[in-house]
Amino acid sequence: MKDGRQIRSMFASISRRYDLLNHLLSLNTDKRWRKKTVEASGLRGGERVLDVCTGTADLALAYANAIGPAGTVVGTDFCPEMLHIGKRKAASEKLPCKASLMVADTLSLPLADGLFDVVSVAFGIRNVADLKGGIGEMARVAKRGGRVVILEFSLPDNGLLGGMYMLYFTRVLPMIGRIVSRARNGAYSYLPDSVLKFPSKEEMCAVMRECGLTEVTTTTLSFGIATLYVGRKM
Ligand SMILES: C[S@@+](CC[C@H](N)C(=O)[O-])C[C@H]1O[C@@H](n2cnc3c(N)ncnc32)[C@H](O)[C@@H]1O
Repeated sequence: MKDGRQIRSMFASISRRYDLLNHLLSLNTDKRWRKKTVEASGLRGGERVLDVCTGTADLALAYANAIGPAGTVVGTDFCPEMLHIGKRKAASEKLPCKASLMVADTLSLPLADGLFDVVSVAFGIRNVADLKGGIGEMARVAKRGGRVVILEFSLPDNGLLGGMYMLYFTRVLPMIGRIVSRARNGAYSYLPDSVLKFPSKEEMCAVMRECGLTEVTTTTLSFGIATLYVGRKM
């Protein structure tokens, strides 16, 4: 079991360099993945979206820019330092809808049941101390018929490309992350370690179903480096 306090202080320590490193280490692919996540959510104008573990709010902002003036987007995260960067970005953009960011633990969201048409998370659920608890909370606050959309790192298929990526991911990325973030707490070794320990696609789909989600689908992104999971609340 991961320790939420340690996770929160690790993200606080890298918050100021988080966006820079995200875009640098993924060569900007993260932006494309978030766009695909919004597309996969089946978002319609005027809907209500919750983005949990929103961090610096990139996915929440992508939803806000796609949802139209009648829509509402809420982003939550338990790390105020990450949210602070997100709030600054939200304030500097002229968002076309109502959007707010608030401190909240994904494991106990202070939100009523069945409020949202889309409940989403990008690269966050892997960090939540209790995977089933986190997905269960996401499903709880989704409306009946609403969609739960999860973007998460995964391991690429074997083969030459996969092997090269693993070398980059486990050796080069932690080194660049350490230098650029100046974090001495292993935050960028934690990234490959946590991805290597994360459940397989089949196990993830099983957990989503156990949380009351149906029609669970997976989409492989960038040769399997990331996977998009979508489920519908019964
Ligand atoms: C890798 S970042 C992802 C941020 C953002 N979603 C993105 O796409 O860049 C993971 C985020 O999950 C948050 N987090 C981890 N566990 C959490 C929990 N139990 N409740 C709320 N936020 C959590 C961290 O504070 C961090 O901001």
